[in-house]
Amino acid sequence: MNKTVLITGSSSGIGKAAARYFAEKGWNVAATMRTPSKETELAGLPNVRLFRLDVMDADSIRQAITDARTAFGGIDVIVNNAGYGAVGVFEAATPEQIQRQFDTNVFGVMNVIREILPYFREKRDGTIINVTSMGGLITFPIYSVYHGTKWAVEGFSEALSFELRPFNIRVKNIEPGAIKTDFYERSMDLFRKDGLTDYDEYIRVTYANSQKAGADAPGPEVVAKKIFQAANDRSFRLRYPAGGQSPMLLALRRMVPLSWFHGIVRSVVEKGFRPAV
Ligand SMILES: NC(=O)c1ccc[n+]([C@@H]2O[C@H](COP(=O)([O-])OP(=O)(O)OC[C@H]3O[C@@H](n4cnc5c(N)ncnc54)[C@H](OP(=O)(O)O)[C@@H]3O)[C@@H](O)[C@H]2O)c1
Repeated sequence: MNKTVLITGSSSGIGKAAARYFAEKGWNVAATMRTPSKETELAGLPNVRLFRLDVMDADSIRQAITDARTAFGGIDVIVNNAGYGAVGVFEAATPEQIQRQFDTNVFGVMNVIREILPYFREKRDGTIINVTSMGGLITFPIYSVYHGTKWAVEGFSEALSFELRPFNIRVKNIEPGAIKTDFYERSMDLFRKDGLTDYDEYIRVTYANSQKAGADAPGPEVVAKKIFQAANDRSFRLRYPAGGQSPMLLALRRMVPLSWFHGIVRSVVEKGFRPAV
């Protein structure tokens, strides 16, 4: 029987590329998203079904899992991909922006895992794949809140993997580098605070350099392949750096002292910045 994957945030970018790739490889795909009525491409694929799922709405998660199990006879792998970047200097972020970032990127992941666990535990099998980021293990300027969420999911997943292993449930983190998707455009939430101008030059430089990394980055297919590899990997390996500069940067981070690594990050992301004082 074909295996089944349920993917969150399948309307664009990495989630959509993963849905397409799993389907090409013969898997059943429960492609979940906030607004399935807008999706045309995936809806036409034979072994793909669309379900509404907002990671901040527990009822929608429960319903999507139930419907996917009914449609395909079970779920083997769940991919927590939905997420976005809230970006800018911390001082300009509103509490609401920070809350929504954690609600989506952290509590959203926990919400989905909470709903799938009884089923995976009962059948003593299942794979949970979280799309975190290389930014869950290293950091860059103007992404402090986003990094907070991705570091949270890295720590959470690592600890969770201990308690789920006895039930043959694998936890796997995919850590993409910069990938060209809507992440850098439509999905991004930018912090702005009227009257706060001291950071302007720093934001101008670091934002331009990080946007350039996104523009020059590979497409989401490279991450889709890595998710597929992790889904088929029956080992308990936790981490999968994926695409862009992620494998190289994460290896470098392990090899050199943190202060050296930060010097390298600053030389790239703060390139062109001249402090006023
Ligand atoms: N692109 C990168 O450079 C990069 C690097 C490392 C990690 N990542 C991670 O990769 C994941 C996918 O991002 P992407 O690059 O593919 O960006 P994207 O094209 O903007 O896709 C983000 C997806 O998340 C969905 N989403 C947002 N909030 C949601 C919610 N409350 N419930 C359900 N779905 C929600 C969006 O749905 P709507 O269409 O409804 O907005 C969209 O489908 C994210 O977790 C991101 O942090 C991206």
